[in-house]
Amino acid sequence: MASYHLSNTIANFNQTDSKLPAMTVSAGTSITSTTTTPFKLNSSKLCSTGLQHLPQGHSQIINHIENSQEPSTRASSSSSQQFHLRIGIVGLGAFGQFLAKAFQRQGHHVLGTSRSDYSDYCQEQGIIFFQDLNGLCEAQPDVLLACSSILSTEDIVRGIPFHKLKSNTILADVLSVKEFPKKLFLDVVPKDFGILCTHPMFGKYSGKNSWEGLRFVYDKVRIAENSIQQRKCEQFLNIFQDQGCRMVEMSCEEHDQYAAESQFITHTIARILSNMNLGSTPINTKNFETLMELTENTVSHGSDLYDGLFMYNVNAPKQAT
Ligand SMILES: NC(=O)c1ccc[n+]([C@@H]2O[C@H](COP(=O)([O-])OP(=O)(O)OC[C@H]3O[C@@H](n4cnc5c(N)ncnc54)[C@H](OP(=O)(O)O)[C@@H]3O)[C@@H](O)[C@H]2O)c1
Repeated sequence: MASYHLSNTIANFNQTDSKLPAMTVSAGTSITSTTTTPFKLNSSKLCSTGLQHLPQGHSQIINHIENSQEPSTRASSSSSQQFHLRIGIVGLGAFGQFLAKAFQRQGHHVLGTSRSDYSDYCQEQGIIFFQDLNGLCEAQPDVLLACSSILSTEDIVRGIPFHKLKSNTILADVLSVKEFPKKLFLDVVPKDFGILCTHPMFGKYSGKNSWEGLRFVYDKVRIAENSIQQRKCEQFLNIFQDQGCRMVEMSCEEHDQYAAESQFITHTIARILSNMNLGSTPINTKNFETLMELTENTVSHGSDLYDGLFMYNVNAPKQAT
């Protein structure tokens, strides 16, 4: 067991710095604090920079870990209403990465895990990467956000070690279908935990330059009122509101009805167009170019998303016939 005294490092931490030094952690080492918050990592695979040998610049990670008190006590100096969340992203694919950058821009601390090894990417981006969900949950994020493919989410959620999380943690998701994760969370997530189902109605193309006016759908499925959980939830939603999103509070069921008529149809048309192998002509109209762009952007998501939209939205098959 390695032990590291946090008091040596606290002076080095800049509370307003949005980027934490990157580090891959996975398990086995225990870190003891001379202050009030002991923090444990559970396995032996700390990456090349062992915690006991942290250079000066890496001390922020320790403070980040140390800083596991409730969010109200982590208020930034700019506003008593604002504080920085620790957001644990599960699934660091295209959309998980896109969101991670936005969270960091707003000063939140991003932790992540994924099926594939993203340690190099995270190192570059200042994301703390964990090799598995156990390690991520031991770091006790305020919000655990499922950014996994629709098809893989059930196995992932059923594998969350909830006993390692605080009960005021919020389980959230960004899946493009909503009734499915809502039911899954209600089935699997212990009752004290918060549940927030969301769907940002944009992606890395449409939201590349700005989120101004783009819709963000959410359903506070289970958030305890007047609680830390509620403050975490509001703070998480503020990330999108502050970027100018049009916030749409809507039940998951209602979302899926509308999405079958809009998003699923868009993806279906794009797939049909893609199968027609249309190419640019010397006399393209603007409308044709819009169609080509739609096809390119939509099909670039790959088949997992489309399969998920079809199989996990009960309203989709009706639209397809
Ligand atoms: N892209 C968008 O514009 C957009 C917008 C709103 C919402 N969403 C939602 O965001 C989520 C992520 O979308 P995406 O565009 O990044 O691509 P995606 O293909 O839907 O999901 C990719 C992610 O799922 C993980 N994954 C796939 N199969 C897995 C398996 N069998 N076991 C464990 N993990 C698995 C991948 O892990 P590895 O990378 O580690 O392999 C990756 O992190 C989806 O639920 C989607 O509906 C996407």
